[in-house]
Amino acid sequence: MSQEKLRIAIQKSGRLNEDSLKILKDAGISIDNGKEQLKASSRNFPLEVMYLRNGDIPQYLRDGVVDVAIIGENVLIEKGKDIIQGEKLGFSKCRVSLAVPKSMKYNDINDLDGKKIATSYPNTVNEFLEKKGITAELHIINGSVEIAPNIGLADGICDIVSSGSTLFKNGLKEVEVMLKSEAVLAISPKISEARQEILEKLQFRLKSVLNART
Ligand code: PRP
Ligand code: MG
Repeated sequence: MSQEKLRIAIQKSGRLNEDSLKILKDAGISIDNGKEQLKASSRNFPLEVMYLRNGDIPQYLRDGVVDVAIIGENVLIEKGKDIIQGEKLGFSKCRVSLAVPKSMKYNDINDLDGKKIATSYPNTVNEFLEKKGITAELHIINGSVEIAPNIGLADGICDIVSSGSTLFKNGLKEVEVMLKSEAVLAISPKISEARQEILEKLQFRLKSVLNART
């Protein structure tokens, strides 16, 4: 029997992690999880799991270091346009939005012309603003973006909005939804034929789970 295994990347910690493991479990794939380990294997499916940081996953897929990943569509849009997008997985739904302080008068996107925007999604913001004919100065930060207007770092922000509670707690209001996102299966353009076969089995199982969930 072949020893070939499919390598899947899953978010190391954060909102996608739990639901990603859950969908694999529902697909009948048990993973031996030494919680502290960054790599794990399945006992009953030819799968190796690698726990990685979200933002690093597109590069691993591009290089073919991992074959497939469960990742937010928004991350692929930001830095993985060359990665193959597979099934939408129906969880981790969110928006990528622009927000400004509640006290700011906001009529339309022109109010952000020449302003400073803090974000972890510079490509997405630039593309959006370019389409609208707006120029803004971007401050790229990796987390806690919503604090930026309060500390005088920016006039507005662009980040993920899910429940909206982070915006609310920071006195911000959502003014533009740039895109909607959910977890998807992302596939390396370099996947080998042997692993492609395993991937098809995985996709078949995931589809059954998704059908059962609706
Ligand atoms: C994410 C995201 C938003 C928040 C949105 O941050 O960057 O800040 O969740 O969710 P909500 O609308 O339900 O509040 P996270 O807490 O993962 O931390 P980070 O920004 O430091 O990575
Ligand atoms: Mg955040």
